[in-house]
Amino acid sequence: MPNLYDRYVLPKLIDAACGQPPMTQLRGRYVSQAKGRVLEVGIGSGLNLAHYGADVQHITGIDPAAELTAKAHQRAQKIATPVDVLGLSGESLDLDDNMFDTVVCTWTLCSIANPYRAVQEMRRVLKPAGQLIFVEHGRSDDLTVSRWQRRIEPLWKVIAGGCHLTRRADELLSDGGFKIRQQASGYVPGPKVAAFMIHGIAQIA
Ligand SMILES: C[S@@+](CC[C@H](N)C(=O)[O-])C[C@H]1O[C@@H](n2cnc3c(N)ncnc32)[C@H](O)[C@@H]1O
Repeated sequence: MPNLYDRYVLPKLIDAACGQPPMTQLRGRYVSQAKGRVLEVGIGSGLNLAHYGADVQHITGIDPAAELTAKAHQRAQKIATPVDVLGLSGESLDLDDNMFDTVVCTWTLCSIANPYRAVQEMRRVLKPAGQLIFVEHGRSDDLTVSRWQRRIEPLWKVIAGGCHLTRRADELLSDGGFKIRQQASGYVPGPKVAAFMIHGIAQIA
């Protein structure tokens, strides 16, 4: 059972933090490239929904946090594309193999308890010719910043819903059998420990 902070405060903080203009800009740049049947892992409050384009036929959004997905349900009403929001964990998707043309994962690998399992599941449900769109924050290339990220992470995880500062989406995806086709990284405005973004498009290796 979530405590009062996790139930009432954290969802508002996550929605506000993830809705900041630099993140909205990255959503616009990447989510608009989704096609066909889409799986969004960790749909959260549904901030990506407004960015899907006309090439998307159907969106399945999964997330175990009902406190956040309540808002995703509301946002889903505002777009023409059909959306299903399911209370599943990315670590164990009750979904068939090779079902999706696109998997979208934005600022979610940082928070999944077992990201290796989640990457395996993304690979399993993605069609062989499909694409995985990722936008994540993570361990900085700058040693001074990454040292601070390591120091702060234990406390950060407690106040930020299990979010890790030192994970690297590119490493997790490569280790999990994806080939990264396009990748960029760099800071967005904000505290450097949480502002180093790694984003791109991957496919099954
Ligand atoms: C920082 S929020 C980002 C939400 C959303 N992806 C976005 O771009 O706004 C992290 C999300 O990861 C979700 N999450 C945590 N553990 C998860 C899991 N095991 N499976 C799927 N999503 C998970 C949280 O519930 C939360 O919605």
